[in-house]
Amino acid sequence: MGKWKKAVLSGTIATGVMMAPFAVYEAPVTVAASSQAFDNKVVKKIDAETIYQHVSDLSVGIGERVAGTAAEKKAVDYIAAQYRSYGLDVDIQPFEFRTYQEAKEVSAQVAGHPEQNLKPTAFQYSPNTPDEGLTGEVVFAGLGQASDFTGKDVKGKIVLIERGTIPFVDKAANAANAGAKAVLIYNNISGTLKSSLSSTGKFVPTLGVTKAEGEQLKALLDEKEPVTATVKILGSGFVTKTSYNVIATKKAHKNHDTGQILYVGSHHDSVPGSPGASDNASGVAVNLEIARVLSDQQTDTEIRFLTFGAEELGLLGSYHYVSTLTEEEKDRSIGMFNFDMVGSKNAGEMIMFTVDGQRNVVTNTGASASTRVYKELTYGKVGRSDHQPFHDSGIPSAAFSYAPLEPEYHQPTDTIDHISKEKMENMAKVVSAGIYQIARKDTPALERSNVAPKPVEPPFEDRPL
Ligand code: BES
Ligand code: ZN
Repeated sequence: MGKWKKAVLSGTIATGVMMAPFAVYEAPVTVAASSQAFDNKVVKKIDAETIYQHVSDLSVGIGERVAGTAAEKKAVDYIAAQYRSYGLDVDIQPFEFRTYQEAKEVSAQVAGHPEQNLKPTAFQYSPNTPDEGLTGEVVFAGLGQASDFTGKDVKGKIVLIERGTIPFVDKAANAANAGAKAVLIYNNISGTLKSSLSSTGKFVPTLGVTKAEGEQLKALLDEKEPVTATVKILGSGFVTKTSYNVIATKKAHKNHDTGQILYVGSHHDSVPGSPGASDNASGVAVNLEIARVLSDQQTDTEIRFLTFGAEELGLLGSYHYVSTLTEEEKDRSIGMFNFDMVGSKNAGEMIMFTVDGQRNVVTNTGASASTRVYKELTYGKVGRSDHQPFHDSGIPSAAFSYAPLEPEYHQPTDTIDHISKEKMENMAKVVSAGIYQIARKDTPALERSNVAPKPVEPPFEDRPL
């Protein structure tokens, strides 16, 4: 552990956690008037309407913000402009990622049978056909098991296979190994067949059709006349895209600089098909409001306000950001506060999640501040968001959220009409008071955690979200 972290442990947490025995916590918590005065410097300035306006600008004005799209870049420019308007230094950090792009054109036509009006889908990870498509005789191969191909000549042909018994990948691989040119798999229940092969494996163009379409085609084959079809899959495949992190820095006061760094993070991307009002325009909005309120205060700690891209694709932005920190910066890093889903009317109670289910400087600060400005918080053990990469690299971190999560999570219904101004306001108050408690320059270190955190014994429970 580096010298900077030691300073924090002795100055900030130890007063609350290590030096005070648990028995002390059982007494009612008294809040020192001086702490309240300090809290009020930031808490009174938190404005619910300002937070809500950010959620509206991001989730209604921009809408869905999938990583690597023009909408994500709009959100990034919006966020950067807000931070700049608070006088912070802003950097936009691009990073590349590989992603699978769905086919742009998919079709299947049966020669001489326009009534076979097929509306196929392309299996994810299927190879494309040439531009003109692939034409071949259609042959039936049952369920597409290896035994269905013994003694059957499918070389250069299009194989029709029924769904069921073995996985799609095995059906597609068996057909490809037997020399088929393309594969048509039909459903065995009602509805479109839209599924996936695997990103590794040897396949030929593979399409899905409905049960009715497949059975109709099978009936045509049963008439014993040769049937010829042309299938097309165009425009699918792996592409490299660019996503962005936004980094806004509030430097420590030049004459009062502990050298320590705190991070406040939220992801700005959303999943496809959702405006992401709660997940996670709410988290970005609270992050921006804390930046606005703290930007007027003198601090002896550097605060980096971050929003991450491509969280929904596997925490890509936050892993990228952490990978750009030097060892020296990591050593000076004392904690990361992550906001994810902090604004739904339909979610539960305010909660702090850590990756390992243990308390740390971030949860202790959150517990202490929430006791002063809100109420006692619950805890849980969850990764699955941008606090994970910070934890992985040894920086204490926690995700602040409300649990259980709302039913609109990752749905098209994650819209602004389910957003609670009050939940976002409370979150902004708790965390701004906590951060200010650590970062303010005008109090001696030992006063920084003079309200005991909640007496919860770690490890915290693994909690379903
Ligand atoms: N916001 C969600 C879930 C969440 C809420 C995680 C609160 C942690 C605290 C998050 O954006 C998400 O959907 N994460 C993914 C995992 C990620 C690694 C792609 C998930 O939970 O499926
Ligand atoms: Zn999220």
